Amino acid sequence: MDKIQESVCEFEALPREKSIGGGWIVKYKGFWCPEMLLQPTLSFQKHFISKDSDILLATLPKAGTTWLKALVFSIVHRNQYSIDQSPLLTSNPHALVPFDHQLKHGKSETLYQENNTPSSPGVFATHLPYDALPNSIFKSKCKIVYLCRNPLDQFISQWHFVVQNVPQGKKAMPLNEALELVFEGINIFGPFWEQIMGYWNASLECPNKVLFLKYEDLRKDDVFYVKKIAEFLGFPFGKEEEENGLIEEITKLCSFRSLSNMEVNKHNKMHEKYPVKNSSYFRKGEVGDWLNYLTPEMAGRAARIIQEKFGDSGLTFEFV
Ligand code: A3P
Repeated sequence: MDKIQESVCEFEALPREKSIGGGWIVKYKGFWCPEMLLQPTLSFQKHFISKDSDILLATLPKAGTTWLKALVFSIVHRNQYSIDQSPLLTSNPHALVPFDHQLKHGKSETLYQENNTPSSPGVFATHLPYDALPNSIFKSKCKIVYLCRNPLDQFISQWHFVVQNVPQGKKAMPLNEALELVFEGINIFGPFWEQIMGYWNASLECPNKVLFLKYEDLRKDDVFYVKKIAEFLGFPFGKEEEENGLIEEITKLCSFRSLSNMEVNKHNKMHEKYPVKNSSYFRKGEVGDWLNYLTPEMAGRAARIIQEKFGDSGLTFEFV
């Protein structure tokens, strides 16, 4: 039995709950890890060797990960691919930017080479909290872009995703029960406030290492934020690129309307082992959709919890 196997056995005593998606989650070092991802997470934490050029995209599920992957991929590989030859035209963003648990032996190169996309800079994504990231990420100059979303919209998005992808023979949790559970902090990679505050504080302490973005801000002015992300990552747009409208072209390519209408995102599935439809990553892409699903009472209770958890941190969410 190797060390990681041993640790997994050791962790059998960890608190265990059913998540809103019906899968088991275990509370490991302060966050709820999907049980099926525990072993790959431990492996990532133990083996991942970060390079200075690496770029880590961190989010909670349903905060806009797919969008962020598309934008950052397009920004950093713009010299390899013109817009009309972008791999995004034929591949889902998740096929181009892997998650931490997909990195083989903790090395980003392997997966990139398999996908035939550039290996440098290595761009990959995580849902892990800041404190749970591998040490080498803190030792290297790897940059982190964190995207957060109004927890109410994120919850509604997650609940729909769960309902759409519920395995045959299983039932999705009713909305009100799911809301209770998530706002008690019991959700994959949650409690959500702890993960968001972890990256928020890190961005204040180390602004050159962590860029903290909000989904709602990106929806308001994607051109401004694409420029900001590019500068933060050390890939600023040149005068000529700006004058030629390249930033607008990237935002247009990665927009909800554009990505959701691509054949690959309308019809294909992620892969055999994870038979989620690509289309389920594109639902509405709106701000404030929670208003259509939560009663004023449900929303009021949730908003009070948000207010209490984020307190005077300086991080605020709009509820109108
Ligand atoms: P909704 O369910 O509210 O529509 P993730 O990528 O983290 O799984 O998040 C999915 C959410 O992001 C979904 O939200 C999805 O519609 C939205 N989304 C996906 N692509 C987007 C894009 N290009 N622009 C804006 N939102 C996008």
